[in-house]
Amino acid sequence: MRSPARNAVPAADPAAPAVVVEPLFDNQAVSSARALPLYMQLAQHLRQLIMGGAINDRDALPAERELAERFSVSRVTVRKALQSLTDEGLLQQRQGAGTFVSAPPRVEQPLSVLTSFTEDMQSRGLTAGSVWLDRTTGTASSDEALILGLSLGERVSRLRRIRLANGVPMAIENSVVPSRFLPDPGAVSGSLYDVLRARGHIPHRALQRLSATSLTEDQARLLDTQPGSPALHIERRTFLPTGGMLELVRSSYRGDAYDFVVELQLSAPSIPSRHDSEAGS
Ligand code: GLP
Repeated sequence: MRSPARNAVPAADPAAPAVVVEPLFDNQAVSSARALPLYMQLAQHLRQLIMGGAINDRDALPAERELAERFSVSRVTVRKALQSLTDEGLLQQRQGAGTFVSAPPRVEQPLSVLTSFTEDMQSRGLTAGSVWLDRTTGTASSDEALILGLSLGERVSRLRRIRLANGVPMAIENSVVPSRFLPDPGAVSGSLYDVLRARGHIPHRALQRLSATSLTEDQARLLDTQPGSPALHIERRTFLPTGGMLELVRSSYRGDAYDFVVELQLSAPSIPSRHDSEAGS
């Protein structure tokens, strides 16, 4: 979670921030025809603009009064919306200076390196967190047993959690680990990989399949975004150095918070040789 200090910066900003230009806002985004309270609708709209990169880090939002006029809501509604985004760590309210966007955790993730969520966030200066949805043990389902190479009836630990970066939900992760590697899922409070490594089970290699999807209503609620928003479904199968499978993870990453980056190299046979280039010239 973000530390409160980050949201309460009293000092004047050294660099003059740009004030967000009005046409960016969709004044239809807040409507009393919708069931959601108005302040939540406004917070949702601003959150999407921030997380989607339409409003830049450190930009200043227009004054409360202007926002109230733009969205035809009361200043109390605007204040509540701004407060909830401040609590999430997406805005900073500076006394006498206004309301500013604070760094949205849009993450670029290389696909060729095997790292944990905690390491990914730490390497970007973000604090990783989890909201636990489930930590249980049970008998592997036939699907899990087939994938993990277990005998029917073998036990597994299941971990289901929302992964957070600086308190902002980034992904829903469902991990299944054979109980012989992790008998007690309750032993994981922070990093799963740290616990596995400490037990001598080193995540060594992984295969990952990514596919485009959109969030269901439940997933969107957990990730604090709109149903139908784009997302990436990722399945990771992680192996031990000995080749045995250590974990099966199925996750849904918010499309507006993650960029997956792949490095491509020219394959060796298609690099023209000196002889070829000389012959062609
Ligand atoms: C990433 C991977 C998961 C893995 C997790 C471990 O999110 N996609 O397969 O289980 O990292 O992260 P941590 O060690 O922070 O729990």
